[in-house]
This record gives sequence, C-alpha cells and structure tokens, in this order.
Amino acid sequence: MSFSRRAFVGSALALAACEGQGPATAAAQPARSGPLPRLRDLVPFPVGTQLVSDHLAIPSVVDLASTQFDQITTGYDLKMEYLVQPDGRLRFDGPDALAAFADANGQSLHGHTLVWYADEPEFFQRLDGRQAAFERAYDNHITTVAGRYAGRMRSWDVVNEPVTDEGRSLRESLWTRNLGQDGHFERAFHLTHEADPGALLFTNEYHLESKPHKRRTFLNLIERMLSRGVPIHGIGHQSHLLCDLPRGAVAEAMREIASLGLPIHMSEVDVSLQSERPFGSRRDREAAQIRLYQETIEAYMDLPRIQQFAYTIWGVRDAESWVRQDWYGGDHTDAPLLWDDNGLPKPTYWAVADAMRARRMR
Ligand code: G3I
Repeated sequence: MSFSRRAFVGSALALAACEGQGPATAAAQPARSGPLPRLRDLVPFPVGTQLVSDHLAIPSVVDLASTQFDQITTGYDLKMEYLVQPDGRLRFDGPDALAAFADANGQSLHGHTLVWYADEPEFFQRLDGRQAAFERAYDNHITTVAGRYAGRMRSWDVVNEPVTDEGRSLRESLWTRNLGQDGHFERAFHLTHEADPGALLFTNEYHLESKPHKRRTFLNLIERMLSRGVPIHGIGHQSHLLCDLPRGAVAEAMREIASLGLPIHMSEVDVSLQSERPFGSRRDREAAQIRLYQETIEAYMDLPRIQQFAYTIWGVRDAESWVRQDWYGGDHTDAPLLWDDNGLPKPTYWAVADAMRARRMR
C-alpha cells in the first residue's frame, strides 16, 4: 500500500504532537491473565493472519500463528518482488515453507498476490513494449505460480489494489500499459481460474472505509468485470485503519461492499496509532484503536454467513508490522496489532476476543 507522502507526513506530525505525554498505556481495559482463548475457536468463519517466511524463525510468532488462527495469508513470499529473479527464474523456497507450515497446522492458505501495480520486476520491465513476449511472460507467471499450488490454495488475491489513491480512476502500471486496464485484469483472473479451478479468486483494495468514492470505483470495476463473465468470487476488503477513522465508517463500508452479494475477505486488518488529523493523546489513540477493532468484528459478524470468507489480521506481533518498516517511515512507537513486541496479548487482543464472543451470544 502506498499512502501518499503528504498523508504520511501529516500522520507523522500528528503522532509527534502527542509524544512526551507518557509511555504507552493500556487504554480501555486492564491486563488479564490465564490461558488465551484461541480466536479461531470463537467465530464460525476462518480467522487468518499474515505471515512471511523469515518470521518462521521467531518462536512466539510461530506459536501464535499456529494456534490462534486457521488461515495463513502469504504476506510477501508470493509477490513478484520475492519470486521473480532478474533473469526471470522463479524461487519458491519462501512460499513452499509457508505452505508446509500451514499444512503442518491444518490451516488453509490464501495466496497474496499474483499481480500488483507496486510490483514491477526488472525481468518484466525489460519486456516493456514487446507485446507478444510480454503476454507470454505474464501468462507463464500466473499459470506457473497458481498451477504450483493448485488444489492447495483456498484462494488468491489475483489483482491487488487496482484503484488509485485519489480513488476516482484505475491505476496505470507496467501491466496496464502492456495489456490494457481491463485487459490485464480479465486475463489474470481467467488464467488463474484455469490453473486452479478450485481456488476462490479475489481482488483486494484498501481505504474503502475512509474514501467512499474509492469504494464506489472499486465496486463498479468488480460489477463491470462480473457482467463480462470474469471469474471474481469474492471481495478483498483490507481494512488498514488509522485511529482517527470516524465511528460508523467501518459499518457503512461493509454494508455497501456486501450489497454485491459476494463473499468478503476482511483481508489485512490492522489499526495504526497514526492519524491523518491531530488526534489526542496516546491513551486516546489506544482507546480509539480498540473501538475500531471492535467495529470491524461487529460489522463482519453482522454479514450473512455465506459472505463471511475470512477475517484476517495483518500480522501477529507489533515488532514485525509493516507500519514499522523504513519505507513507511519506520515509526517504532506505532503498535497496530493484537500482540506486543514480545508476543504478549494486548488490550486489542482481548477487545477482539470479547467482541467475537459478545456478537455470538446475541
Ligand atoms: O524478509 C526480507 C529479507 O529477507 C530481506 O533480506 C530484506 C531486504 O529487503 O527484506 C525483507 O523483506 C521485506 C518483506 O516485507 C518482509 O518483511 C521487504 O523488504 C519489504 O518490502 C516487504 O514489505 C511488505 C510490503 O507489503 C511490500 O511487499 C510488507 O511486509 C507487507 O506487510 C506489505 O503488505 C501490503 C500488502 O501486500 C498490500 N496491502 C498493503 C500492505 C501493507 O503495505
């Protein structure tokens, strides 16, 4: 995901504005002890997490990923940036390790992602403008990667993040330049379906809560593709949230996305303590974060069962979260997940578990 530079600077400033107001404090709930309930046992749909193969070396991540969740999304290892070497050869050590991990733990696997505007490997760039060779390489990539895991993948994100940040048009990329905006999209879905007819195919997008016009552009694209017989089986609704998202925005987005009647994958849930606008103290941010996690669970649990594909959290411990990576600003005070840097459950974990249990009791 590429938040605009301007939005990021704004977020960083807003977070900086509340620094110096004391260390992180558990916002709304006291710490609890005793054995952790397994999130996967609390709801009737799969609960997933994102994992990268490097993190299989971290004992607390492995422990939590294997016990708390019943689905694994490959966070990095099936992207072209990992798979495609400069000479065009593919490496599969990372994704094979993740598939073996999921197998060993009886978990389903969600493949992320075959085609992404942000992923333009050198090998493909060298084919830019050479129509026949580009098509051959594109087709070969999808067929080989989806074919390798055929029968093993529950589902795929086929095209990731097709809508611009501004939200009113579709993105331009190496893929659209060479194969057309609709062309690259349709081609990718048809090829994936041929390579793995049993896998459910998704397109996946972010900021669908904070930008209603982006949501409409995304849903219009899906409807147009469906009307042409493109095999899209579900909607990936990422839900990378900032803590200043207004109350109610999560439910409103969910209602509109659900109106298409397709299964919905809440596919990359996390709630950053950063904000677009100035927003109170660290404690206020943590309280808002907890409320937003609850809102995502409640909105998801209100869907008809047939539309509940999976609820996936984008990682296990704060320490490995993408929001701390250098390319996103490297803010090590942010803490968007359910477990802290040491793998201990945070109030966000208990809020999610409690919201799951409470919604089930209704
Ligand atoms: O693990 C490798 C390591 O082996 C290598 O030596 C090192 C050198 O670059 O990089 C490490 O890989 C990093 C990888 O994350 C795993 O941590 C990559 O550099 C880094 O680019 C990669 O970032 C990922 C990012 O997408 C770009 O692919 C994040 O983990 C991942 O969380 C993030 O996920 C995206 C979704 O795909 C789409 N939606 C938004 C979401 C957040 O940005």
